[in-house]
Amino acid sequence: MKIQIINGPNLNLLGKREPGIYGQQSFEDYLKTLRAQYPDVQIDYYQSNIEGELINKMQEVGFDYDGIVLNAGAYTHTSIALQDCIRSLKSPVIEVHISNVHQREEFRHKSMISCACKGVICGFGMNSYRLAVEALKA
Ligand code: DQA
Repeated sequence: MKIQIINGPNLNLLGKREPGIYGQQSFEDYLKTLRAQYPDVQIDYYQSNIEGELINKMQEVGFDYDGIVLNAGAYTHTSIALQDCIRSLKSPVIEVHISNVHQREEFRHKSMISCACKGVICGFGMNSYRLAVEALKA
């Protein structure tokens, strides 16, 4: 099984960025734990701060991989281009967020991509990614 994790803008700063909200761990560290938990799953990782690069990566893997776990960061709340891209793909996309966006500012309550995704997981810290992998496996 092949799963692609894609992180959007500012998620390269996990561990340094607002640790009270996003925690102390870098994504690279978390990824080691996640891969160890699923030795039978190929888990690839890509991060970009650039909207078009996220779209390029999704188009590259989205007809071949068994699923995409997408944390689009702030593009979640703005990007119709990402929504159109998700709709175009064959692979299911799970939207994830580390924080519970519904407990935060109102502008984070609206997602432009949820309607195109298979499901949404948010608010479980880094564990949100593992829950998304579980969902794809199931
Ligand atoms: C986030 C929530 C978004 O609102 C925010 O812009 C992010 C991170 C999360 O994982 O909680 O960059 O997607």
